[in-house]
Amino acid sequence: MSSALTDLFPLPIVQAPMAGGVSVPQLAAAVSEAGGLGFVAAGYKTADGMYQEIKQLRGLTGRPFGVNLFMPQPEYAESGAVEVYAHQLAGEAAWYETELGDPDSGRDDGYEAKLAVLLDNPVAVVSFHFGVPSPEALDSLRRAGTFTLVTATTAEEALAVERAGADAVIAQGVEAGGHQGTHRDVPENDGSGIGLLSLVAQVRESVAIPVVAAGGIMHGSQIAAVLAAGASAAQLGTAFLATPESGAADLHKQALTDPLFTRTALTRAFSGRPARGLVNRFMREHGPYAPAAYPEVHHLTSPLRKAAARAGDAQGMALWAGQGHRMARELPAGQLVETLAEELAAASTALSIKGEGEQA
Ligand SMILES: Cc1cc2nc3c(=O)[nH]c(=O)nc-3n(C[C@H](O)[C@H](O)[C@H](O)COP(=O)(O)O)c2cc1C
Repeated sequence: MSSALTDLFPLPIVQAPMAGGVSVPQLAAAVSEAGGLGFVAAGYKTADGMYQEIKQLRGLTGRPFGVNLFMPQPEYAESGAVEVYAHQLAGEAAWYETELGDPDSGRDDGYEAKLAVLLDNPVAVVSFHFGVPSPEALDSLRRAGTFTLVTATTAEEALAVERAGADAVIAQGVEAGGHQGTHRDVPENDGSGIGLLSLVAQVRESVAIPVVAAGGIMHGSQIAAVLAAGASAAQLGTAFLATPESGAADLHKQALTDPLFTRTALTRAFSGRPARGLVNRFMREHGPYAPAAYPEVHHLTSPLRKAAARAGDAQGMALWAGQGHRMARELPAGQLVETLAEELAAASTALSIKGEGEQA
C-alpha cells in the first residue's frame, strides 16, 4: 500500500496545497514536472474556479497532481462572539479605510459541488483538511481511481482517518504553517499541538496506512528524518511559498526571511481557527481574544487583510508560515525539488554510514 502513493511520483516530496492564491497551477506543475507531487487548493474557491485551475494545470503537466478540499465546519461559535469581535475590529476597518466583511458569507466552502466535479473529472490525488470525509465519499473517489489523503494532528485523528477508509494520512505537526487541520475545533482548543517527529511515531503506531509528514520541513535532511521515522513522504508548504512560481504576495515572501519577523505563533485572529503565521501587529493585538468561529472570522477580516496588502502593510496581513520560515530559499520550484532530493540523498547516505558504523 505504501508504494501506491510514491508510485504516483518518483520523489517523496509533496508540495502542500496552500489556499488563498498561493499554490497556483504554475507552482504545482513545476513540482510535478520535477518528480514531486504538486497540489492546487480548492479552499475559498467555487467548484467552477477549482475546475478551471485543474484544466489549467492539465495544460501545464501530464504528470499526476493533487487537489485539496476543506471539510465543511459545524457551527460552534459562542453566540454573540463574532459580533463582539467585529466591534473590536472596527478601528482596524477605519484605519484601512474599508468595511468589515459579512461573517455569514458561507460555511461549507461548496464541498459537495467540488466533490461532484472531482468524481466527474478524476485527478490522481485528493486531500482533505479540517475533518474526515464520509466512507462513501472516500470509496467513490477510490472507485474513480483517485488516491485519498486526510490531515490528522493526533494519533486519534489518524485512526479516524484510517477507519473512514482513506488511502493515507497526513500527520501535521504543530510546526506547520497555515491552518492546523484539527478535525473539530472548539473554543477550549488552546492551539497547542504535537511536534512532527513525535506525531509521526505516534501515528505509525496507531495506523497501518501510509503517513505523509508535514510541518516545519525546509531541508532534505529533515525529509530523511521523517522517512526514517516511518513516513512515506514529506509535505512542504512554507518552503514552496517562497518560490517565484508561488502566488503569495511579494510582501509575504519577503517577510519569511525579514529579520523584523522573528517568531511564528498559532492564532485565531484572522480566521477564527488556529493557524500559524509570522507574529505581526494584527496577531499581537487581536490574537489574545479572537473567538473560535471559523469561517465567520475569515469572512469578517477578509477586507482588512486585502486592504493591508494594498497598502503594503505586512503588519495587517495574514503571513502564514511554518516554524522553519527563516530557511526559505528563493529557488524556482523545480530547482527546489532537485535540491531537496540531493540533500535527502546525502542525508540518507550519512544515516546508513552511521548505522553501519554502529553495527561494526
Ligand atoms: C500559506 C499556507 C496555506 C495553506 N493552506 C492549506 C490548504 O489550503 N489546505 C491544506 O490542507 N493545508 C494548507 N496549509 C498547510 C499545509 O498543508 C502544511 O500542513 C504546512 O504547510 C506544512 O508546514 P510548513 O509550512 O512548515 O511546511 C497551508 C500552509 C500555508 C503555509
